[in-house]
Amino acid sequence: MLQSQLDRYAVVGNPVAHSKSPLVHEAFARATGQRMRYERLEAPLDGFVATVQAFAEANGVGLNVTIPFKLQAFALAREHSVRARSARACNTLAWRDDHWFGDNTDGAGLVCDLTRNLGETIAGRSLLVLGAGGAANGIVADLLAEQPHRLVIANRTHAKAVELAARFERVGPVSAEPLAALSGQQFDIVVNATSLGLGTSVPPGLWPQRLFRPQALAYDLIYADRTTPFLDWARAEGAGRTADGLGMLIEQAAESFYLWRGVRPDTGPVFRLLGAAGRG
Ligand code: ATR
Repeated sequence: MLQSQLDRYAVVGNPVAHSKSPLVHEAFARATGQRMRYERLEAPLDGFVATVQAFAEANGVGLNVTIPFKLQAFALAREHSVRARSARACNTLAWRDDHWFGDNTDGAGLVCDLTRNLGETIAGRSLLVLGAGGAANGIVADLLAEQPHRLVIANRTHAKAVELAARFERVGPVSAEPLAALSGQQFDIVVNATSLGLGTSVPPGLWPQRLFRPQALAYDLIYADRTTPFLDWARAEGAGRTADGLGMLIEQAAESFYLWRGVRPDTGPVFRLLGAAGRG
C-alpha cells in the first residue's frame, strides 16, 4: 500500500511542535501492527474548522485535539460520546462515514494513570482540583466516578469553580471553594488543571500553604522535559509524591487509539520509551 493511501491521523493544535503524541501513536502502531500515519497539524488560531475539513478530504480519519481547540472540536463534531458531552469538549475526533464523532479521553487517561500506573486509590480520598477551565472540565466526571470522599474545585475566578461544581453535583460529592477557604484543609491528591505557564514559578500566595497530607500526590496535567513549576511548589510544600501529565498523555492516547483502530495498545513500552521524568 502506498504511504499516501494509509489512514491518516494527527494531533491538531496551536502550538503543536512540542507534542509527544506522534511518538506515542507511532509506537502503538508498531507494537500492534497497525498500518497508519500520524502527524502534527498546526491550525491557524482562526482556522481550526478549515484545517480539519482539508485533513478529512485527504484521507484524515482521526485527530487528537489539543490547546486551544477542544471546544471548537466539540462544536464541529456531529455525534458525541457521553464523556465528551459531559466535558463539553473533545480531545479526540474519529471520522464516521460522513461526519466527525467527538470523544474525550482525557479523564479516562488521568484516572488510568493515577490508579494503574501510580497505584493511587481515589475511592474514599480527598481530592483537590486547582483550575476550572477546559482541562478541569475534562476530568471531573471521571474522578467522581471513582467515588472519592470529596472533590473540591478551587479557581482564581471562584465563579467558574462554582459553575463547574454545580454541573456535577448530582454525580458525586463535589464542591467549589474559594482559594482562601482552603487554608487549614488537607488533601490526598492535588491536581493542577490551570494553564499556569511553564516559564514561571508559582507566585507566592497564589495557593494556600499546607494543602498536602504527608503522603499526598501532586499531579500536574501538563508535562515537560523538566519538573513543572507546580510540582516544584508542591515538593516545597511537602507533597510526598509528584507526577507530571506524561502518563495521562500516554493513557489518553491509548484510549483514542482504541476508538480509532479497535485495538488496545499496551502502554508499558511507551512509558519506557519516553522515560518517566517528573515522577518521584
Ligand atoms: P485550559 O483549557 O488549559 O483549562 P482555560 O480554559 O483557559 O485553559 O483555563 C485556564 C485555567 O487556568 C483557569 O482555571 C484559569 O483561572 P481563571 O478562571 O481565573 O482565569 C487558570 N489560570 C490561568 N493562569 C493562571 C494564573 N496565573 N494563576 C492562577 N490560575 C490561572
